[in-house]
Amino acid sequence: MNRKVTKAIFPVAGLGTRFLPATKSIPKEIMTLVDRPLIQYAIDEARAAGIEEFIFVTSRGKGALEDYFDHAHELESSLKKSGKTELLDILRGTNMDSGAIAYVRQHKALGLGHAVWCARRLLGDEPVAVILTDDVIMGEPPCLQQMIEAYKETGGTMVATMEVPAEKTKAYGVLDVAEDMGAIVRAKGMVEKPKENPPSNLAVIGRYILAPTVMDNLNKLKQGAGGEIQLTDAIADEIEEGRDVFGLRFRGQRFDCGSKAGFLQATVAFGLARDELKHEFAEYLSDITAMYKAAE
Ligand code: UTP
Repeated sequence: MNRKVTKAIFPVAGLGTRFLPATKSIPKEIMTLVDRPLIQYAIDEARAAGIEEFIFVTSRGKGALEDYFDHAHELESSLKKSGKTELLDILRGTNMDSGAIAYVRQHKALGLGHAVWCARRLLGDEPVAVILTDDVIMGEPPCLQQMIEAYKETGGTMVATMEVPAEKTKAYGVLDVAEDMGAIVRAKGMVEKPKENPPSNLAVIGRYILAPTVMDNLNKLKQGAGGEIQLTDAIADEIEEGRDVFGLRFRGQRFDCGSKAGFLQATVAFGLARDELKHEFAEYLSDITAMYKAAE
């Protein structure tokens, strides 16, 4: 079985209602952490992991996202003329080679599983990575690279997982663990947003490496929890059919940038991680925290 992962799907067709009214005209993936849109963090992570083909599952109103990857010739030549090479390098980092990027339309937001299924015709008999741009992960090596390294050993299907407090499991897909090997766990089941009795506290977050058979499972297009077509169900079907599903406890910090609180936390963390900002920003944060406490 081919274990080289060169394609990644970026499902970006969601409505982003938690960020209304901003998402009325700006795709959520274009919202910026410090100075880079969420999508750029995802692309950089994919590139670091050796991904060569980038498949975006988009929807109506995502034009700004597609434009973001175009070469900005005028801007480039103006920066070149004025000798701003550092900015020029940053700008060029956003360029994509012709043919490396493909857009598929999801006509209705029928769920993450459905979004992934929309990319099926662009895949052969090969594993594919899925990156949810809402989940921004600070990690070294980047999360998908950690997964691809682990996947070379395990094969099967792999999801990124992290421990969450029991009361938070209902917001995630949760692994039922058959075998805990430390960083890697083998799953014997996977439940989407369990209302009660979660099978573990290992939550699945937005990084996946899918075996080609997961697409066959999605083909059945079952309606899972919440009326949406769940990717979790298609992965759970792998286990039922006797194929391997693993979770990787990745090293790093994940931010849920699909929620306002998570986005703000990520802004603070990524701001503090920048050399040119950290002193001024840390000072401001400590002042404002002191003021906030004093006012309480
Ligand atoms: P979310 O569950 O965060 O949904 O999707 P959302 O629509 O983006 O945001 P809210 O909840 O309305 O604020 C998780 C990921 O799956 C993609 C989203 O774009 C996001 O990256 N997705 C979800 C799709 O591409 N299509 C869908 O039908 C559903």
